[in-house]
Amino acid sequence: MSQCLTIALTKGRLEKKALKLFTQAGLDCSFMEDKKRKLIFKSPNGEFQFLLVKAADVITYVKHGVADLGIVGKDVLLENLYGYYEMLDLKIGQCRFSVASTEDYVVNDYKRKIIATKYPAVASQHFREKGEDVEIIKIEGSVEIAPVLGLADAIVDIVETGTTLKENGLQIYEDICPISARLIVNKASLKRNKQQIFQLIDQLEEVIEGGE
Ligand code: PRP
Repeated sequence: MSQCLTIALTKGRLEKKALKLFTQAGLDCSFMEDKKRKLIFKSPNGEFQFLLVKAADVITYVKHGVADLGIVGKDVLLENLYGYYEMLDLKIGQCRFSVASTEDYVVNDYKRKIIATKYPAVASQHFREKGEDVEIIKIEGSVEIAPVLGLADAIVDIVETGTTLKENGLQIYEDICPISARLIVNKASLKRNKQQIFQLIDQLEEVIEGGE
């Protein structure tokens, strides 16, 4: 009998899309329909269980081997580069990293800029690659208000529809890179459950390629 695989899912926006993908790949996820406030779900056939956690915690559970697999955005992976294998681009949750600010922002200004972001590693790397020394201020959310209120000159954040930027009077000045959800795996688990994990990856790949 195959071992029960534990899969950590990012709660919220990605969760529904990920479950749809797993269902299309042949996993019966109907037991997730009436989930209420529960956070751990074991499939009736005992083949897998889902954990619902915050994005950064998906990586923590996978790193520590509590979860065999995880689904998390590339944005969060870029801030946490090590301790797991990134196996597959799931092509869901697609958005991008951008530099945005108010209309008076000057991209090539001579003064040292202050950048507010939830993603300090991504922001630092972007400006370092441009040869620009900036000050980074870490913000936990609602980053869009930082340039409006004068905390920062600009923000580095994820943009999906662009609605949040627009509604807060910001515009995009630079695109940094595209982002999408990835399947990550615990290193030891990949060795232990190689066949089972690669079979799941093959099934997912078939759905993803079929959808392109
Ligand atoms: C993200 C991001 C933007 C918004 C972009 O925030 O930080 O604020 O989504 O989406 P849009 O381009 O479709 O408007 P999230 O909803 O994750 O909440 P947060 O502000 O608490 O981080």
